[in-house]
Amino acid sequence: MHELTEDSESILRVEWDIPGKPYPAKVVTLASGEKLVIREASREEVPLLLDAIRPVIPVEKDFYDLVGSRLYAELLGWYRYRVKNHFALVGILNGELVGIVNNRARNLKEHISLHTMAFRRGGRIGAHLFAAKHEHSIEVLGADKIFVTVEGPIGLRRWIYEWALEPWPLEHEANGGARNWVLTKEHYSEVKPRLVFGERPVPEDLLKSTLKPKVIVPDVVKQK
Ligand SMILES: CC(C)(COP(=O)(O)OP(=O)(O)OC[C@H]1O[C@@H](n2cnc3c(N)ncnc32)[C@H](O)[C@@H]1OP(=O)(O)O)[C@@H](O)C(=O)NCCC(=O)NCCS
Repeated sequence: MHELTEDSESILRVEWDIPGKPYPAKVVTLASGEKLVIREASREEVPLLLDAIRPVIPVEKDFYDLVGSRLYAELLGWYRYRVKNHFALVGILNGELVGIVNNRARNLKEHISLHTMAFRRGGRIGAHLFAAKHEHSIEVLGADKIFVTVEGPIGLRRWIYEWALEPWPLEHEANGGARNWVLTKEHYSEVKPRLVFGERPVPEDLLKSTLKPKVIVPDVVKQK
């Protein structure tokens, strides 16, 4: 009979083992004029993030099922101390949780791009979140390279073609050996003026309005 004792927990638990730094929140003005706040998620918020993702897990359209279940597992793994060097950012619009992204640092210089999910469609919310997670990896945490993979055609268009990423010969760790591309620090600097937006600091009242975001019915579920 195996029991999860405090001792086994100390063997299995993983945490950040390289220096981490907080992501400075920013506000991105969307084409609609709405203000999207992007801030770091705390580990304590994970149950809320899981509530937000759960409805898309049965939705095949645009690979929400596959990306949803992978993102769910990664966030749960982070919450339960089974994923190392992980961070997540959230997008909040009018107090509503409209997207989630996450990355993982393999070491100080190499990061793994994990997943991106937009609950509200049509505003490039996912695109801004994707840019923000790499901004955090490269500009705040000091990564030199980020390895990127995608599940579906929208990801291919949004991340690989828009960002003009180069293929990387080794398999990606996140998706069972799927195709891999690399975002280098130099390439990030070149594409930044075209793809990375936002202003800082976020006005105090606006930031406060993001503290307990509302979980919404995702657009892809409404359309089902
Ligand atoms: C990939 C993703 C994060 C991109 O988010 P985004 O930048 O906000 O872009 P949207 O999802 O709004 O739009 C993407 C495409 O969907 C279509 N689309 C736009 N508005 C839409 C809407 N209201 N409903 C359905 N589809 C819509 C368009 O073809 C759009 O392409 P275009 O803007 O280049 O013309 C998002 O589509 C998503 O969460 N997809 C499921 C998970 C996934 O594939 N993640 C990426 C792998 S890591």
